[in-house]
Amino acid sequence: MPDRLPVAETAAAAGVHVSVQLAPGDRRETLRRDVLEGLTRTPKTLPPKWLYDERGSELFAEITRLPEYYLTRRERGILRERAGEVAARTQAQTLVELGSGTSEKTRFLLDALVAVGTLRRFVAIDVSEETLRESAARIASRYAALDVQAVVGDLERHLDRLPVGGRTLIAFLGSSIGNFPPAARSAFLQGLRELVASGGWLLLGLDLVKDPGRLLAAYDDPGGVTAAFNRNVLEVVNRELGADFPPDRFAHVARWDAENEWMELCLRSLDARVVRIRDLRLEVEFARGEELHTEISAKFRRGRAEAELARAGFDPAAWWTDAAGDFALSLARTA
Ligand code: SAH
Ligand code: AVI
Repeated sequence: MPDRLPVAETAAAAGVHVSVQLAPGDRRETLRRDVLEGLTRTPKTLPPKWLYDERGSELFAEITRLPEYYLTRRERGILRERAGEVAARTQAQTLVELGSGTSEKTRFLLDALVAVGTLRRFVAIDVSEETLRESAARIASRYAALDVQAVVGDLERHLDRLPVGGRTLIAFLGSSIGNFPPAARSAFLQGLRELVASGGWLLLGLDLVKDPGRLLAAYDDPGGVTAAFNRNVLEVVNRELGADFPPDRFAHVARWDAENEWMELCLRSLDARVVRIRDLRLEVEFARGEELHTEISAKFRRGRAEAELARAGFDPAAWWTDAAGDFALSLARTA
């Protein structure tokens, strides 16, 4: 797979520059590779980025409004309270948002950086093209003076395509860093360190270790929205690769792994079955009760998170939590 990809550059909605690093052919090729590799290993695993087609992004937005899913509300509260301090300390000229989704909470940072008068450019990267285009257009119309750059791309492959410059603040919100397994997470943090020059800043949203009962409720809501979000990855593989997964025969499983301190999401096959993936000419056997791993969501503690940042070359500068201590925002500066 060549690393340099065909890049489509378009000026989409007024004021937004869109660069497509993950064109449809490349997306499909990457999905083929991930599905082939992930479904022929033990345990069977699919990378969580495939959860986010248009429907998956809608379901995630629905999750953020669930009473059980405290993460988004907690982080919004901290951002509302602390964005002014972030802006005053970083004086950022470029704000880069990773895995930006709807960028709904980002407005606190944008407002604060506009108020201090330093912000020139907003860069957002996400795999979910429709969601990214919509949110970038919304931001461009709200902040008319801002240079808004939307990059349709994969965080694990396209960090070097981000147009950074000047004093840069990278924001990675929602505790999405918890969706990386530990080794990938530290490689990714090092990649971020390489992306920002000295004097650059990183703002990370981190969900904290807490009572497993609350975590289980947040990842297995009674209305089944999270279950639908999880199963949607099977719809993606069915549609994109001509597979015949029956999503309703796969149960949503969310469990707390106390040793690793992460939530683990799987899909458990309710039957013994053979799934055919037409475009890969592949038949995959599932035993009854066999699990397909779809996501981990690590939960953090301050000491370990800051040590990890330091190892990647970031000096911890601030740690803010909500009053209940559910969620943290960590601000760090390049060492
Ligand atoms: N930052 C938002 C959205 C979090 S949901 C919030 O805090 O609410 C995770 C987002 O990351 C989704 O929009 C998804 O499309 C995107 N995403 C997941 N894996 C990605 C990857 N490998 N590269 C780029 N974006 C990714
Ligand atoms: C995007 N990410 C941080 C979410 C999380 O909480 O790990 C994705 C999610 N999975 C199930 N619910 C929400």
